[in-house]
Amino acid sequence: MVSDKDIEHAVAVLKSGGLVAFPTETVYGLGADASNSQAVAKIFAVKGRPATHPVIVHLADAVQVANWASEIPEAARALTRKFWPGPLTIILKRAPRVSDVVTGGQDTVALRVPSHPVALQLLARFGGGIAAPSANRHGRVSATTAAHVRSEFGDAIDCVLDGGATDVGIESTIIDLSGAKPVLLRPGWITPAQLEQALASPLAAPEGSAPRAPGTLARHYAPQTMLIVTELDLLMELAATLTRVGKKVAVLALTERRPVHEGLVWVATPNNAAAYAHALYANLRALDEAACDTILVERPPQTAEWMAINDRLTRAAAGSAAQDET
Ligand code: TXA
Ligand code: MG
Repeated sequence: MVSDKDIEHAVAVLKSGGLVAFPTETVYGLGADASNSQAVAKIFAVKGRPATHPVIVHLADAVQVANWASEIPEAARALTRKFWPGPLTIILKRAPRVSDVVTGGQDTVALRVPSHPVALQLLARFGGGIAAPSANRHGRVSATTAAHVRSEFGDAIDCVLDGGATDVGIESTIIDLSGAKPVLLRPGWITPAQLEQALASPLAAPEGSAPRAPGTLARHYAPQTMLIVTELDLLMELAATLTRVGKKVAVLALTERRPVHEGLVWVATPNNAAAYAHALYANLRALDEAACDTILVERPPQTAEWMAINDRLTRAAAGSAAQDET
């Protein structure tokens, strides 16, 4: 799928200040040379992302953390030993050389070593850090295939590396290690319990003084169609009522047993957190593209394993059909 020549071309694009979309194990990233402020600024322009939203710097290995952070606390060593390469982003105090464009002017920097082989090959060949947010327009659903990236940006990006569908399907867990205690900023596939076990200490609750992770705004990861998350009983009632009055309804359900109504689009997704997460954004895109009046999502189990999925669904519901997010 991705040849050595493709990687070489992508490295050349990055070195000349261009943008490269690449697969990670979570979602596709929209990358630029993290040491080139002008290149990073292009990411913000293309995404329509406010300048105050910092981006993650992706690295080939944990040794490079010393180039980007001014301090590496023991907690960072413990977590990166255990979870890198993998879907974990750590926030540390930034080194002086890190551009304000990358950090959104904050005194911290987000760092991650992804595990996708294409991302690792690109990072190793490039040598430096690659600044990359998720490859979607601001506020919208992240891209989990190269085709989704192209449909978000068209010709606005110089190069898309196609590594197939991403494995995890939702964005990395983010933990802030820049303060006195570790704070979970964004739930992801690596759970709080796993982090606490590796740290051998509990996570602290977020405080007002913790740095903002704007991806944790209430409205995010949102389709354009209005989206409601609800229990199956109520979902069935709503689907019946709405379709009876001629509305088109798209459903994301944990059951294959669909009722028969005119104008009902029914997508069944596995009742298994890993498989659900893997398919989540592709399912949301498909439901959005069905051009219905409403998307109804069956509420998944409310257990720790489903925490990151429930987080994304809540934000998708809050941001759906919002007029002010682009
Ligand atoms: O899985 C992922 O994390 C994907 C792949 C491409 O690595 N990336 C991703 O990036 O989701 P993005 O930009 O869509 O989300 C990163 C989040 C944003 O909410 C951003 O505000 C937050 O990380 N962030 C970045 N730097 C930060 C910092 N210094 N302090 C607090 N939050 C930060
Ligand atoms: Mg994002």
